[in-house]
Amino acid sequence: MNVSGTVRVPGDKSISHRALMIAALGQGRSELHGLLTGEDVKSTARVLRQLGVEISPIRDGVRAVVRGRPLRPPRAPLDCGNSGTTARLLLGIVAGHPLVARVVGDASLRRRPMRRVTEPLRTMGARITEEKGDGLPLTIRGGELKGLRYESPVASAQLKSALLFAGLTGAVPVEIREPHRSRDHTERLFAYLGLGIRERDDAIVFEPTSPSSIPTFQLSVPGDISSAAFLVAAAVLAEGGELIIEGVGVNPTRTGFLVVLERMGAHVERVNLGAEGGEPVADLVVRPGPLRATEVASAEIPTLVDEVPILAVLASRAAGETVFHDVGELRVKESNRLELLATNLRAVGVRAEASGDDLHVSGSDRPPRGRVDTARDHRLAMAFAVLGSVPGADVRLSERRSVAISYPRFFADLTRIGAPPPPRGRGK
Ligand code: S3P
Repeated sequence: MNVSGTVRVPGDKSISHRALMIAALGQGRSELHGLLTGEDVKSTARVLRQLGVEISPIRDGVRAVVRGRPLRPPRAPLDCGNSGTTARLLLGIVAGHPLVARVVGDASLRRRPMRRVTEPLRTMGARITEEKGDGLPLTIRGGELKGLRYESPVASAQLKSALLFAGLTGAVPVEIREPHRSRDHTERLFAYLGLGIRERDDAIVFEPTSPSSIPTFQLSVPGDISSAAFLVAAAVLAEGGELIIEGVGVNPTRTGFLVVLERMGAHVERVNLGAEGGEPVADLVVRPGPLRATEVASAEIPTLVDEVPILAVLASRAAGETVFHDVGELRVKESNRLELLATNLRAVGVRAEASGDDLHVSGSDRPPRGRVDTARDHRLAMAFAVLGSVPGADVRLSERRSVAISYPRFFADLTRIGAPPPPRGRGK
């Protein structure tokens, strides 16, 4: 099997959410190019529209126009769908506005912890009532806030960004320290727009200028490295060929996947380096090659947190045992990814185990065969689709639709580069 060609992946999901949100807060017309058209970003657009913001339809190849204006109270609950980023960042935005909103989500999102965000927001002055313990649905009453100095117990960009958005909308200072640095797209966008952000003694410090100073802007969103990772993996596991992925965001807080892949023996070249809206961008050139096992340390996890599923799949084809340390956060992603990775890898004949907060995966070159339960988690579906593309594989996926969350064209792109995906399995 040869994997080859030149492709572009959809716009970065994290940057798409943030760009829409900040554009919504600017008073006037902003233009966003290359936004992700996946369901998660549509959830962000939907809730912002409910708050009175005008946003043109989000379609492939069409620039989105956002007309920000003072937010108004929503008439119905704000449904964040499957998107944790939408829910958590939205809470930060509403916190600084004098309005009441009930925030809801789908079954997966309702299981995800919200107190990591609501507790510091309460300290800032937001009033929040839970309906079912630590999660959605909940109701938030925003208003006057006070500044916050916060030592975060988790390296979470969603938490950090929610607090920065509360500082921005509430026009109060916020200082955050995290155990390891999580993705810094919010900080970069704030800096790009001159919104009073800096780093001081390892802390992220936001000091408001004035609330009316959120500028309108134009932005091109780089390709999502988290989506590119699946195509990179298919090309590394191929028997021949060369794949070029153009215009991928290579922000160092997101490139842990490439760093680990290099340690495993695969070299991904970065060429045509450039920048878009304060974010580094490059074309990736990928060729197949043998892999060896590695250890992934806790400090690296935030830089590859969404790539653990595809790295675990790569580890299942590498010589030796790979260990991912301290990946407990994977339990509270779109699914319990830690358990599901281990059980699904075993279901296709791979030795894998979740032990405490660590994940162990032993590689082999036997063709993977069996049925995978994706739990409607987009990244599990895509990771196991890539495993199902290796020679001799017979991997059946419980569903394929979930890829629309972050990469609607995924199966078409996989087929186009020469790695035909497995069919949907029978049963549930
Ligand atoms: C995201 C941050 C990450 C990541 C998620 C998107 C973001 O979560 O898993 O897919 O856009 O801020 P954390 O909050 O764990 O960093």
